[in-house]
Amino acid sequence: MHTRVLGSSDFEVSAIGFGCMGFSHGYGPGPGADEAIDLMRKAFDLGCTFFDTAEGYGAGANEELVGRALAPIRDQVVIATKLHITGGDGMTRGDLSRQLRQRLDASLARLGTDHVELYYQHRVNKDIPVEDVAACMGELIDEGKILGWGQSQATEQELRRAHAVTPLTAIQSEYSIMERMFERDVIPACAQLGIGFVAFSPLASGFLSGKVTAEDTYTGDDVRRAITRFDRDNIRANQPLLDLLTAFAQEKGATPAQISLAWMLHKGDFIVPIPGSRRLQRIEENLRAADVELTDEEFTRIEAELAEIEIHGNRTDEDIAKLRQVD
Ligand SMILES: NC(=O)c1ccc[n+]([C@@H]2O[C@H](COP(=O)([O-])OP(=O)(O)OC[C@H]3O[C@@H](n4cnc5c(N)ncnc54)[C@H](OP(=O)(O)O)[C@@H]3O)[C@@H](O)[C@H]2O)c1
Repeated sequence: MHTRVLGSSDFEVSAIGFGCMGFSHGYGPGPGADEAIDLMRKAFDLGCTFFDTAEGYGAGANEELVGRALAPIRDQVVIATKLHITGGDGMTRGDLSRQLRQRLDASLARLGTDHVELYYQHRVNKDIPVEDVAACMGELIDEGKILGWGQSQATEQELRRAHAVTPLTAIQSEYSIMERMFERDVIPACAQLGIGFVAFSPLASGFLSGKVTAEDTYTGDDVRRAITRFDRDNIRANQPLLDLLTAFAQEKGATPAQISLAWMLHKGDFIVPIPGSRRLQRIEENLRAADVELTDEEFTRIEAELAEIEIHGNRTDEDIAKLRQVD
């Protein structure tokens, strides 16, 4: 497995990481704990050294699973987790610092470790100065409880302000062939400042695998009920994109999912996708995408063809939040 270095930090991660969320949250019922643990260990055996979780996935259950899975190989992997900071206006720096420390301690207890390599603010709160969060994260780095920190779905301005206080290791945001809005500003800013860019939903929640059909149905907390790219009409309207990926996949002896991940790896050596799956065959397919190398000519051709294709539907936090309220 090829590796990449996140930000200006010392930690090296596999070029493709593993998003563990789906074992506890977001994609409907998953496998039992034993199978999930086995799959995470198999991902490591296949070369993956970068595992992503959050306190919010299954109300802590996902961190517990990840901790149990990685305990025997803890010193060989990079663990990233996240927190949603609560409160806002009127919160003092002292309150914020206490909250971060308490929440991190709870995450570390669930993960069964005394530190995590990467701690993200899961969403940037608009009423808490990013500088204050950055300063508190800096304290946690000084104490050795975290080795680096990041923001998720931050704007360019937010990341620049935060980075000036405590250098960011990585930004984790949605990025795929279907969702390219951060190419405009955030990704170039990460390149300029030496910050890693970790792409969540790099397969557009599985759509880019080409295995989704308009007949598929989703239940419970499955975010695909709310993501408009999974509307039947949009699935049909996005067929030209899948045709393009399938054609390139055939040419390269790869799969559409692998071409999607290889395209992203070609974009920049500071970009690390973290696909998620609960099936061994797909986990292997995704991790092996690191071996699919696109030439500059192939990459340019894909970009040119993509520029001619209109994308229908997207994924928004607002839609997903409505789904949770309904349930
Ligand atoms: N920071 C944030 O706000 C945020 C938001 C979302 C996600 N994340 C993180 O990012 C990780 C990845 O996001 P994601 O899970 O949305 O990524 P994704 O890989 O784009 O989508 C995962 C979905 O695609 C399916 N899938 C994956 N590989 C496949 C393949 N080769 N063929 C067919 N289907 C495939 C999976 O189904 P099966 O499981 O059934 O295979 C699952 O339903 C999460 O696990 C989480 O750690 C972070």
